[in-house]
Amino acid sequence: MSLEGKHVLVGVGGGIAAYKAVLLVRELGRRRALVKVAMTPSATRFVGASTFGGITGTPPVTDLWDPSYPGEVHVELAAWTDAIVVAPATANLLARAAAGMADDALLATLSCAECPVVYAPAMHERMWLSPPTVRNVERLREDGARFAGPLRGPLASGEEGWGRLAEPEEIADTVAAALVGGDQLAGKTLVISVGPTLEDIDPVRFISNRSSGRMGFALASVARDRGARVVVVMGPTSVQPPPGVEVHAVRSAREMQQAVNDVADDADAIIMTAAVADYRPAEMAEQKIKKTGNKDHMSIELVKNPDILAGLGAARKGTRPALVGFAMETHDVVAYARRKLTQKKVDFMVANEASVGFGRDDTQVTIVDHDGDHPQPPGSKMAAAGAVLDRLAKLLA
Ligand code: CTP
Repeated sequence: MSLEGKHVLVGVGGGIAAYKAVLLVRELGRRRALVKVAMTPSATRFVGASTFGGITGTPPVTDLWDPSYPGEVHVELAAWTDAIVVAPATANLLARAAAGMADDALLATLSCAECPVVYAPAMHERMWLSPPTVRNVERLREDGARFAGPLRGPLASGEEGWGRLAEPEEIADTVAAALVGGDQLAGKTLVISVGPTLEDIDPVRFISNRSSGRMGFALASVARDRGARVVVVMGPTSVQPPPGVEVHAVRSAREMQQAVNDVADDADAIIMTAAVADYRPAEMAEQKIKKTGNKDHMSIELVKNPDILAGLGAARKGTRPALVGFAMETHDVVAYARRKLTQKKVDFMVANEASVGFGRDDTQVTIVDHDGDHPQPPGSKMAAAGAVLDRLAKLLA
């Protein structure tokens, strides 16, 4: 995506990955952005200011008393910039930014910037997953910041884990998406199925599953914030849908299929996060089934429910609506998701393990599409929703 004419400030934090910020600056330049660089004092210990000066043609700002700015450095830089991208964002830098500290040129600029901000974190996995960092990331996200990465792979310590700086292309894509901002899904209608379905055995008993609907609601609220019209088709759950979305409440898989099909023609995309029951009792007893005599066993005959997503995939002519499925597995997560990708004829699947999904606020998902597997960093369901919608927006563009 071109960034022609956009003013982008690259904020470099003090971590081993600081040298990769040079590649990011080059990538932004390749996309025709006008780039300036601000470095924290510790970043200058990792990479020379003259390297950035050489590629951007302007010496980077490294302190608040920079004599080349006649006024206040941070105010002028913030006024100049259309987007700020911090790479690498260290745990320390995220903490200071989340607290609104303004004690160096980069932090001071961040504290008075009104433009979109993207953080590309890089640190050891234990720092990324530590409760304070998780809190700081959430706080920055609530304040409107976006995140690119981190990726999983070899870390500076020699260990494997989450914490590698995202690739320059991905960071630049996130900057481009942030610049489009709230309008990213404007004019698009998204249908999102949410929660479990519930299959009645008799008037008081049913078969269901442990889906809470949190992932679907996270997607609904992020999609709404990005300008989409959101239609939620929800199975029975105690979690409340976010405000500002249209809600159709259903009970069984067949009701969910009917409700989704009713709105499918209007949809630019359908995201099936619902944990649809695969089977239902062959018959629902009209009266409560009684415990009979001395029978130690009883069985209920089950029949297959329709596969809503596969039905949409089979009926689709061309590429609309875009179709996204979710797969929660206990093992071989990505392999099963890939199989569902082709069997159900969808654009991409979002795979996660049952142990990190059900009922929790955090998750770790892998987006599985026709190009490959794209693991996302562990984080909140809101963060995962952001990553899924970024990919969907690219598909709809
Ligand atoms: N799905 C659906 N209708 C069904 C079952 C699943 O639309 N009857 C959708 C889910 O909403 C999800 C995707 O298909 O987006 C994958 O669901 P999942 O339960 O993982 O797959 P199944 O096809 O049911 O396979 P299995 O349960 O054997 O893993």
